[in-house]
Amino acid sequence: MNALKVDNIKFGYKENLILKDLSFSIKKGEFISIIGPNGSGKSTLLKMLNSIYTPNKGEIYLHGKNIEEFKRLEIAKKISLVPQETNINYEFTVEDIVSMGRHPYKGRFEKENLEDKSIVEEALKLTSTIDLRNRLITEISGGEKQRVVIAKALAQNSSIILLDEPTSNLDINHQIEVLNLLRDLNKDKNTTIIIILHDINLAARYSDRIIFLNDGEIISEGSPEDVITKKNIKRAYHMDVYLEKNKYTNTPYLVPIVK
Ligand SMILES: Nc1ncnc2c1ncn2[C@@H]1O[C@H](COP(=O)(O)OP(=O)(O)OP(=O)(O)O)[C@@H](O)[C@H]1O
Ligand SMILES: [Mg+2]
Repeated sequence: MNALKVDNIKFGYKENLILKDLSFSIKKGEFISIIGPNGSGKSTLLKMLNSIYTPNKGEIYLHGKNIEEFKRLEIAKKISLVPQETNINYEFTVEDIVSMGRHPYKGRFEKENLEDKSIVEEALKLTSTIDLRNRLITEISGGEKQRVVIAKALAQNSSIILLDEPTSNLDINHQIEVLNLLRDLNKDKNTTIIIILHDINLAARYSDRIIFLNDGEIISEGSPEDVITKKNIKRAYHMDVYLEKNKYTNTPYLVPIVK
């Protein structure tokens, strides 16, 4: 069963074509990384998968049904998005923000019940943000905020989670903590994970499959071994690398050659 299917989509913000005829499918329960240079269209693609933008051409199917046929709240129950940047200028507490993950399940004036509270609590625990619960979102660090936004996505309880560079502000310990958490959700709950990562070595380590975007096109798609090649890296990043296997994990491991 496909969680998502992208069928010949094209998209441009103005006249410039940003995504040039992309097609791929993602099966339920897959762990997929999207990699590619700055400006290659990764965030744009993720926003299309969540129906924030609509393709100029082509279709996107969610669980086999055209995504345009879903109401926004229905999509929010099935897909959560952790965006690349979150600017929250209001003085909400961390717990308020994570509780917003429950909104798709609530009527307009309906209050949180005990079940919502326990789901929020669990999300705070899983992301190690429980000690921050009463702090203001405007008064915590960038990495702490990134983990709070992930907690909100977890509270949304969706079967597909899209994450746009969720580890970019995290220290090495929290990077692994977040990726392990996603891996566990993927294994234990069969949650479909689609994650944009700049760290290719981490992408290789955690993903079933990698989609490699360059200039709005998929230049390679498949297992980490198939996708992470010197040739593909050279084509997209214009640089030479040493490519080895990580001796602990046996996954591709690249080191840029510094001249
Ligand atoms: N709102 C917008 N209006 C116009 N052009 C945009 C907009 N957002 C992005 N773009 C352009 O679309 C292209 C793809 O942007 P996108 O944000 O998808 O790249 P990305 O692969 O996520 O890059 P990064 O790794 O830097 O996050 C870029 O050339 C960017 O300048
Ligand atoms: Mg981006």
